[in-house]
Amino acid sequence: MSLFTKAVVGVTDTALVERLVTKTRPGKSLARRFVAGESLDVAVTVAKGLNGEGFVVSLDLLGEQVTDRESAQGAVAEYEECIERIGDEGLDANISVKLTQLGLNIDPGLAIEAIGRLAERAQAVATTVTIDMEDSRHTAATVDVYEEAQRRHGNLGLALQSYMHRSVDDLTRLMPLGGHIRICKGAYVEPREIAHQSKEAVDAAFVEMLRMIMASPDTLPAVATHDQVLIDLTKRLAQTRENPFEFQMLYGVRPTLQRELVDQGFQLRIYLPFGSQWYPYLTRRLAERPANAWFFARSVFGR
Ligand code: FDA
Repeated sequence: MSLFTKAVVGVTDTALVERLVTKTRPGKSLARRFVAGESLDVAVTVAKGLNGEGFVVSLDLLGEQVTDRESAQGAVAEYEECIERIGDEGLDANISVKLTQLGLNIDPGLAIEAIGRLAERAQAVATTVTIDMEDSRHTAATVDVYEEAQRRHGNLGLALQSYMHRSVDDLTRLMPLGGHIRICKGAYVEPREIAHQSKEAVDAAFVEMLRMIMASPDTLPAVATHDQVLIDLTKRLAQTRENPFEFQMLYGVRPTLQRELVDQGFQLRIYLPFGSQWYPYLTRRLAERPANAWFFARSVFGR
């Protein structure tokens, strides 16, 4: 993980900076670049627009690390409404969820039950549920929950992070289950004992996983990156793949590239976050790119 990423995470992980960002206009306006809005209605409107432009969507209700049952149950209820709207409005969309938002830290049973409910609801409107991968405290539990839920319901997906040493083994274990697997580089700061630290090593692991998954007929590969080199490699690997695959990108990141891929005939799913709990998501986006952090620092703290 780069010094830059660690520095941004260090600065943004303080209550004062969080207050400055969430309560001020520059902070809110930066968030709007990456987040559809605070309500489901706004997210549905944005998703419809994206569908109209040829993109498919994954709706993500922002929120994580929930510590009380009421909040976890509230998140499940909001996701149920979200799935209902996908069906009612005929959206070409699925949902992305975080297990700590569904109560994983309180009682793993809560998260397992919630995933089951959401998977059933999603099945009723012919869509799917992707489980995001959070920081390494939750990796093992997340893989286990996914494995059990996918065996039972068959309409789930999971994100795996190429920076984690264990991910190649996880991918080998999960590919026969036939879900969709999102390969991404990984967005958290992790120790060197368990995670690759350099861009070269993270990218090399991504390439290894990409080659594995693009050769797997059972799995739906979801290639989640804005990295041109990895996108070009995916296109080359796709030439000999008979089964479907998709690209995935974050709302607000490299929109011109997103448009190009759809114009070239590729399926591209936009990860579309919404909700009031946008601060942790925004800090991860700032940490990924120096230009974002500079823009933010200038607008919040002045020159
Ligand atoms: P990289 O960081 O090398 O960026 C390549 C290029 O893309 C950059 O040079 C820049 O041009 C552009 N770019 C990347 N990030 C940008 C940003 N924030 N703002 C502006 N430009 C940017 N992580 C995780 O840990 N768990 C998860 O579940 C997910 N889920 C997920 C879903 C989807 C659909 C995507 C696309 C990504 C994730 N991620 C994630 C995040 C992922 O792990 C990673 O942090 C980011 O995608 C950035 O990595 P890239 O692969 O884009 O490469």
